[in-house]
Amino acid sequence: MTATPIYLDNHATTRVDPRVLDAMLPYFSEIYGNAASISHRFGWDAGDAVEAARGKIAELFNTDARNVIFTSGATEANNLALKGVLHAAPPGSHLITAAAEHKAVLDPAKRLSRSDYEVTVLPVDQYGMVDPQQIAESLRPNTVLVSIMSANNEVGTLNDIAEIAALCRERGVHFHTDAAQSAGKLPLDLSTTPIDLLSLSGHKIYGPKGIGVLFVRHGSPRIKLEPQLDGGGHERHLRSGTLPVPLIVGLGRACELCGETMVDEAARLLELRERLWTGLQDRLDGLTLNGHPEQRLPGNLNVSFDGVEGDALMNSMREIAVSSGSACTSADPQPSHVLRAMGVSDALTRASLRFGLGRFNTTEEIDRAVEVVADAVGRLRE
Ligand SMILES: Cc1ncc(COP(=O)(O)O)c(C=O)c1O
Repeated sequence: MTATPIYLDNHATTRVDPRVLDAMLPYFSEIYGNAASISHRFGWDAGDAVEAARGKIAELFNTDARNVIFTSGATEANNLALKGVLHAAPPGSHLITAAAEHKAVLDPAKRLSRSDYEVTVLPVDQYGMVDPQQIAESLRPNTVLVSIMSANNEVGTLNDIAEIAALCRERGVHFHTDAAQSAGKLPLDLSTTPIDLLSLSGHKIYGPKGIGVLFVRHGSPRIKLEPQLDGGGHERHLRSGTLPVPLIVGLGRACELCGETMVDEAARLLELRERLWTGLQDRLDGLTLNGHPEQRLPGNLNVSFDGVEGDALMNSMREIAVSSGSACTSADPQPSHVLRAMGVSDALTRASLRFGLGRFNTTEEIDRAVEVVADAVGRLRE
């Protein structure tokens, strides 16, 4: 049997933290009630666990627990945000988003543009960043929503979400951010940043797959959101369906751990990322860093290797698990639309690999990855 590869694909998904799994287990076998059952103890205990988790999730973002709407993940949260706001607005309303967004934003935006709505997809710069000024200039009287991601899932570039949120608030337009890659990794205070809607996903922060949140800001101006799933009226009638209590408990614990470890973990990942990058540069030439050199996720390194096909490189080094482009975006791999939007040539796009470093990676693994990648690139360039 071959040894387990070194996992460097933490943007695609993360391993469930053992402490998260421990918290979840009793909710499969002992506390298995339906959180909506209000007539007996099984239901009360499940309901209490859901509300405790909701509180922990809200606490990580310094916001009110009432703002937390559980979904199946960030894809559903993004769909609910975009379709929910547009469907509740008059036909012909306008949405602004950007070319480097995840498909879980771009595809619902495309669907909306095929029906009664107007959609503007803004370009990004060579780092994958959106210019807030361009957003300001693209706002129209009928614009109801701006959706810009916090951190890019391929190149790790961070947008200036605080500035974009502030300008949207000033102009009376709702602002949504897909924070699937940054939530729990970088601090965010929703009490001081005027974000109206925010998506996150459990499996990106060492929690389980199949659970996510759409934060929907309570209060004035009120956000009108049309539910995309009708049923039992769960989650303030915004997302019907029996709540997956074990997954919610897991997400609550995952958020709690992020709160405890985020600052140290970000510093550690940054160090590991620099070690990987300088290690590769010491061994190889013809490397191009994709994404912003500083404004990027601590655990992200996206590199193009001159003269090498990313897929061939991946296939020739089974000892490490990375991704060429964005394996998590689709079941239908295409050349990266993000790198394309950044103006990266087709050749360098094909030559790119994404390294996603996470909580469980060690210095030894990074040093080994440098050796394996450098050797494989050397062989392919021969
Ligand atoms: C930025 C971003 N948005 C949305 C998603 C989709 O999240 P989920 O897998 O929870 O649906 C992902 C990852 O797949 C992502 O990286």
